[in-house]
Amino acid sequence: MAEIGTNIEKAVQLLKAGELVAIPTETVYGLAGNALNTEAVAKIFETKRRPFFDPLIVHVPDAGSAKQYVDYIPDNATMLAQKFWPGPLTLVLKKRDVIPALVTAGLDTVGLRCPDHALTHELLNNLDFPLAAPSANLFGRVSPTKPEHVNEQLGQFIPYILDGGTCPVGIESTIVGFEGDRPVIYRLGGLTVEQIKEVVGNVTVNTHSSSNPKAPGQLKSHYAPSKKVILGNVEELLQHYPAHCSGILTLSKDFNSPYQRRLSPTGNLHEAASNLFQALRDFETMPVDVILAELVEENGLGRAINDRLRRAASQDTQLEGRRYE
Ligand code: TXA
Ligand code: MG
Repeated sequence: MAEIGTNIEKAVQLLKAGELVAIPTETVYGLAGNALNTEAVAKIFETKRRPFFDPLIVHVPDAGSAKQYVDYIPDNATMLAQKFWPGPLTLVLKKRDVIPALVTAGLDTVGLRCPDHALTHELLNNLDFPLAAPSANLFGRVSPTKPEHVNEQLGQFIPYILDGGTCPVGIESTIVGFEGDRPVIYRLGGLTVEQIKEVVGNVTVNTHSSSNPKAPGQLKSHYAPSKKVILGNVEELLQHYPAHCSGILTLSKDFNSPYQRRLSPTGNLHEAASNLFQALRDFETMPVDVILAELVEENGLGRAINDRLRRAASQDTQLEGRRYE
């Protein structure tokens, strides 16, 4: 198992030596390595068992330092960064040569993000390179929101997990790219469509390019728990699936079952997002065969929550064989 601690100096030394360190962010934990060192980057792909066609996000301490890695920054990108960095927003921009092709899976763009977490901010400020960091889970599985989640899946392969407690947002960053100068959302996430619209006016949401994904986190089946997730009205589903072997996942409805998780008893979507991945993990250890889940309202953070639930429920899976790896 990896050591878990808050020793930034130790994390700095490991990263400088080309090793990987799991880092906390406000969204989920990342599996970080020196983005400019191809051996460290290759180790990230190997450790996660992630296919090389799926590019990594590069984490920077602030918007100023992001500039050295990209060629052209549309005004809309500048405005979004000003308003939402540090925060759960990844901007996909034309990359400069200094970013290795391995990081971007050969794309001429790079996803950049300035995470909003005090420990990781201090870490980035103590490094003279940016950190490539995908979510610190095995490819296709539920993202980690606590150090112990990282340890369960990756602990035997990495030396250190920087402990920043539980990730407050709990759902990955929103990914925004630009077609011409027009902003396009490639992945729904912790920053809402409404918040983005306030800054850039209209925005296209294109999270369904599943055959040739711009953001492979958008693969139809992703965020997969090992149990079958069935979406619908839980009351109706319970007429077909016996309650004693069904997990129940709702926003706030109480079914008085020992195998239920309510994401937010008061119906608060922020609380719901922060509890979602832990709830999906909890069912793994319950004696249930299926997870009966209800979608939440389709606005604000509800869109990203529903997006993850739909992917968790998708049977169209290129990952079927991987789920129990
Ligand atoms: O909140 C987050 O974004 C977390 C934390 C650790 O920062 N990271 C994360 O990384 O979710 P990952 O690798 O699990 O998901 C990154 C997504 C992938 O779906 C990838 O395809 C997409 O970002 N991506 C990265 N670079 C891209 C690019 N140049 N163009 C389009 N999509 C890109
Ligand atoms: Mg991920």
